[in-house]
Amino acid sequence: MSTQRARVSLVTRTIAVVLLLNVDCTAEKEEDFEIKLCATHCGLRELSPGMFDNTPLLKVLNMSSNELSFIPDLSLKQLKILDLSNNLYTSYRIPSSFGYLTHLGTLSLGSIAAASVDYDDFEPLTNVSLHHLILGAGTQWRKYESGSLAKIKLLQKISLHASFCENFTMFENFLIDLNKTQAKSLRFISLFPDNCSVSGDPFKHLRTMPFIKNLTVENTWINSSFMEVFLKNVWLSPLYDISFVNITYNEDTPDGFQFHTINHTINLNSITFNGVNHYQYRYPTINMSFKAFSKLTDLKFSGTGMNILPCGVISTLPSLKTLDLSDNLLSESGFWWAHCPYSSAFPKLQHLYLSKNRFSSLSLISLKMKEIRTLVSLDLSFNSLVLDGDCSWSHQLIELSLGSNNLGNDVFKYLSSAFERINLSKTGITAVTQEDLSRFPRLTYLKLSSNSIQVLPEDLNMPSLINLFVDQNAITSISREALAGLPGLKTLNAGRNPFFCSCESYWLVTEFNKSLLMDWPLDYACSSPPSLAGRSLSEYKTSRLSCEAWLQAALALPVVIVVAAVVSLVFYKCDGIWYSKMLWVWIRMKRRGKQRCNKLNNLTFGYHAFISYSHQDSGWVDSQLVPSLEGSGFSLCVHERDFVPGEWIIDNIINCVESSYKTLFILSKHFVQSEWCNYELFFAQHRAISVQQDSLVFILLEPIPTDSLPKKFLKLRSLLRQQTYLEWPRDERKQQFFWANLKSMLHVADKSVVMKEVAEAISDTVHLLTDQV
Ligand SMILES: *[C@@H]1O[C@H](CO)[C@@H](O)[C@H](O)[C@H]1NC(C)=O
Ligand SMILES: *[C@@H]1O[C@H](CO)[C@@H](O)[C@H](O)[C@H]1NC(C)=O
Ligand SMILES: *[C@@H]1O[C@H](CO)[C@@H](O)[C@H](O)[C@H]1NC(C)=O
Ligand SMILES: *[C@@H]1O[C@H](CO)[C@@H](O)[C@H](O)[C@H]1NC(C)=O
Ligand SMILES: *[C@@H]1O[C@H](CO)[C@@H](O)[C@H](O)[C@H]1NC(C)=O
Ligand SMILES: *[C@@H]1O[C@H](CO)[C@@H](O)[C@H](O)[C@H]1NC(C)=O
Ligand SMILES: *[C@@H]1O[C@H](CO)[C@@H](O)[C@H](O)[C@H]1NC(C)=O
Ligand SMILES: *[C@@H]1O[C@H](CO)[C@@H](O)[C@H](O)[C@H]1NC(C)=O
Ligand SMILES: *[C@@H]1O[C@H](CO)[C@@H](O)[C@H](O)[C@H]1NC(C)=O
Ligand SMILES: *[C@@H]1O[C@H](CO)[C@@H](O)[C@H](O)[C@H]1NC(C)=O
Ligand SMILES: *[C@@H]1O[C@H](CO)[C@@H](O)[C@H](O)[C@H]1NC(C)=O
Ligand SMILES: *[C@@H]1O[C@H](CO)[C@@H](O)[C@H](O)[C@H]1NC(C)=O
Repeated sequence: MSTQRARVSLVTRTIAVVLLLNVDCTAEKEEDFEIKLCATHCGLRELSPGMFDNTPLLKVLNMSSNELSFIPDLSLKQLKILDLSNNLYTSYRIPSSFGYLTHLGTLSLGSIAAASVDYDDFEPLTNVSLHHLILGAGTQWRKYESGSLAKIKLLQKISLHASFCENFTMFENFLIDLNKTQAKSLRFISLFPDNCSVSGDPFKHLRTMPFIKNLTVENTWINSSFMEVFLKNVWLSPLYDISFVNITYNEDTPDGFQFHTINHTINLNSITFNGVNHYQYRYPTINMSFKAFSKLTDLKFSGTGMNILPCGVISTLPSLKTLDLSDNLLSESGFWWAHCPYSSAFPKLQHLYLSKNRFSSLSLISLKMKEIRTLVSLDLSFNSLVLDGDCSWSHQLIELSLGSNNLGNDVFKYLSSAFERINLSKTGITAVTQEDLSRFPRLTYLKLSSNSIQVLPEDLNMPSLINLFVDQNAITSISREALAGLPGLKTLNAGRNPFFCSCESYWLVTEFNKSLLMDWPLDYACSSPPSLAGRSLSEYKTSRLSCEAWLQAALALPVVIVVAAVVSLVFYKCDGIWYSKMLWVWIRMKRRGKQRCNKLNNLTFGYHAFISYSHQDSGWVDSQLVPSLEGSGFSLCVHERDFVPGEWIIDNIINCVESSYKTLFILSKHFVQSEWCNYELFFAQHRAISVQQDSLVFILLEPIPTDSLPKKFLKLRSLLRQQTYLEWPRDERKQQFFWANLKSMLHVADKSVVMKEVAEAISDTVHLLTDQV
């Protein structure tokens, strides 16, 4: 009992592991695990009865390629698809529980150990509406009990993967049983073993099986002798569709395939040869009349090595709508074989597939295709086409595929303006222009995948375009402007391009409607910047702010205003205006000082400065200015103190000014009112001095707005406007700065000293300033 339990848990664990490992058939979404379980190739020998108790909703169960020794009991009522093929059970006996799998549509059974089918094997499936039964493991059966398959009355389609040889009684019984089901479609895989010489007529019942419409023979060796017998049954049967897939054809009759005794119309709508290996390594001899195929609409000869189209095909198939000759060895001369006379080429042909052949001349093809008046679509992909001259296409041809031909950027000039669907993937295009694309006003589908296009033109105007493919190119971003000209676009594939994960891609990532992007997000990755290379574009996060200039401006403006306001407030609070004025004074002074430095070096002055002030301001001059300057070693000529008594005040002024390096005016309302008149006179007399205005220094003891000065003091007004002046600060800390500035003005001759002093003063002040903030 305990070993049994251990085994079950082991099995369960194995399945869990397989769920994670088997990429081929695991569910794509996590929630799908509920309904799809894939446990292949894991050596399961048996399943415990309660194994699927927890997953009653399972819809798909694939346990192929295991070692199950009997078909397990399953009671998964929701099951739709069950694959138990390639296991090791010895019989096809279906457990009775399958009778309750009312939703079962597809059942796949196969075991190399099961070589017989017994009468009761499929009994439980009697009332199950099985759509498709896949039966067998490719081995020869020893026994088939007549009537067993007939039990599955609702069967629609069967794929038999078993072989028969010599005694075909079993196979014939199998067909008779199928006739009792609702099977419409038969598929026989590896029907005859390679070493089997088929004699007799195993398919003779086909003629009287009215329900069978489709028949496929796959992976089988077929002799021309058998083919003749087989096809005779097919011609006489009600079959619509016959397909030969991956057959090896052996011409064992001396004249090849001869078939010319058809007396009635053949029902076939569709004939397919998809993959024919020629045992003789040459194209077979086929002698048959195509006249009887009046109902044939679809004909496919693909992968058959055909290099010359049989003569009758081109003109004698009155209903043919679709002809697929892909993957052959046809060229222009083989397709329009010179020895085949024809009056009308393919009277009803609409779709012609010529991909993977050896066509080369696009101009010749365009010309010849005009003969097929009904042709709507043409596939010329995977050929060796060159643009060898002007092309002229018929007007009803609206779909053309030129994929995988090396054509280049000029290809657009060789196409028709009537085209509605164009496939130009992998055609060596490096650039497209609006002019190229404006040739096609009706274009709805354009495929430009796998080229080297770097940008989509921004001036596109293709209102009819619905599907656009530009995947696998060299596009780094897709702009709003480029897609603005495509208002009808419903799908866009643009994956596997080297996207720049920067603002260029911002619009695509955030704003573009992703339901239009068919390959989003899996195929979109960043290629640049290097730090993001390889990351998914959908994970590229950037802010709207960092990418939109107007938004930046809009958001930045209030910030700038606030910052400016705060700075101004701080500036104002800390007397920033005053400091900047002082700095400005200093800068100007330095500049001027430089110019005059040399000149002044040679001159000698009696005083560093003449100080002119109103006697009402003498308190400040005596207590602050004079001590401060004279304490620093400046010699001053002070009005009143140093004036020569008895001389006219103007002469005194002139003497003092002339023997001083600078003249300091201590300006206040008193000075302006009481003293300025003297200076007006002074300036009137000494125009020369007024030219050298920068020897004048104004110190404002109190604010005197220029405009408040009486009009008569024109000179003062203009001097104050042009001249820098120093304001006397009430704040003690600022006074330090004031003195430094003032002293440096008197010091100009010795630049380095000045610089040092001012620098010190500024650093002191700044230090104080920051302390305060
Ligand atoms: C079951 O899985 C195998 C691969 O292991 C796959 O080939 C097969 O098609 C699957 N069967 C069904 C019904 O999907
Ligand atoms: C199938 O249904 C019929 C009646 O509808 C019933 O008689 C028969 O027993 C059923 N067979 C199985 C195997 O369930
Ligand atoms: C063919 O096989 C069936 C049984 O499947 C048998 O009855 C019959 O005699 C065999 N015929 C020949 C010619 O061996
Ligand atoms: C198939 O069934 C039809 C009637 O449904 C019958 O006329 C015909 O003879 C049967 N064919 C075979 C091969 O049993
Ligand atoms: C064909 O070859 C298989 C082995 O490959 C053999 O079992 C079988 O008997 C052979 N059949 C004939 C008719 O020779
Ligand atoms: C085809 O014919 C050859 C003889 O030409 C024969 O040996 C071979 O067994 C036949 N194969 C089939 C599948 O009929
Ligand atoms: C039978 O053939 C027709 C025509 O080729 C096709 O449309 C149809 O899907 C086929 N049916 C089945 C069940 O394969
Ligand atoms: C084609 O058929 C042969 C046997 O006739 C088989 O060995 C081969 O695997 C088949 N190829 C494909 C692609 O199915
Ligand atoms: C093709 O068949 C016709 C009879 O329909 C016959 O006259 C002609 O000789 C055959 N051609 C070849 C090359 O076998
Ligand atoms: C062709 O049909 C006619 C009668 O319509 C008949 O006499 C003749 O034998 C048939 N030929 C063949 C080869 O079936
Ligand atoms: C377009 O052409 C390519 C070959 O370059 C081909 O793989 C693809 O299937 C074609 N697409 C369509 C829709 O025809
Ligand atoms: C995105 O496109 C789909 C399909 O074209 C449409 O249904 C949906 O409304 C669109 N979404 C937006 C946000 O435009």
